[in-house]
Amino acid sequence: MATDRPSTVYLWELAWILPSIALPVGMLAALAVTAFGAGINVAGDRGRIDPTKVAEHALFKEPGVAEIAPGQYEVRMTGQIWAFVPNEVRVPAGSTVHFWATSKDLVHGLFVPRHNVNVMLLPGQISHAQARFDTPGEYPIICHEYCGIAHHTMAGKIIVEARR
Ligand code: CUA
Repeated sequence: MATDRPSTVYLWELAWILPSIALPVGMLAALAVTAFGAGINVAGDRGRIDPTKVAEHALFKEPGVAEIAPGQYEVRMTGQIWAFVPNEVRVPAGSTVHFWATSKDLVHGLFVPRHNVNVMLLPGQISHAQARFDTPGEYPIICHEYCGIAHHTMAGKIIVEARR
């Protein structure tokens, strides 16, 4: 029957059109949930630094860990072949840690598994990441950008101590 034809075509078209609308809408929703709900964002550019004068920069003159407010810790960290300075960070459970880091030589990475810390350390750029550590334990700090022969040895640790 000639009249059936247009409606069959219409259904086939719908079968393609609806998923192609639903897919991007679903992806946009997932993006909104991860960005605003889970706080997962692309690391932004937090400033430039002369990579030959890292040790003179106010942020990195004295690398280390400091409490900046109750429950808030700041880590000022440098990466160089093949170590993080400091390579041990000690905070009480329930702390939010703000990482400020840069590289003194070549491209390194700063990665803390299962926490929202996953940035590159680029010579000339200041990187920032922030994460909350609720569960006492030891967490690795890993360089996850290949940086030469001893790349696999470049690691540190975060020690989260139980509150007394
Ligand atoms: Cu530093 Cu790999």
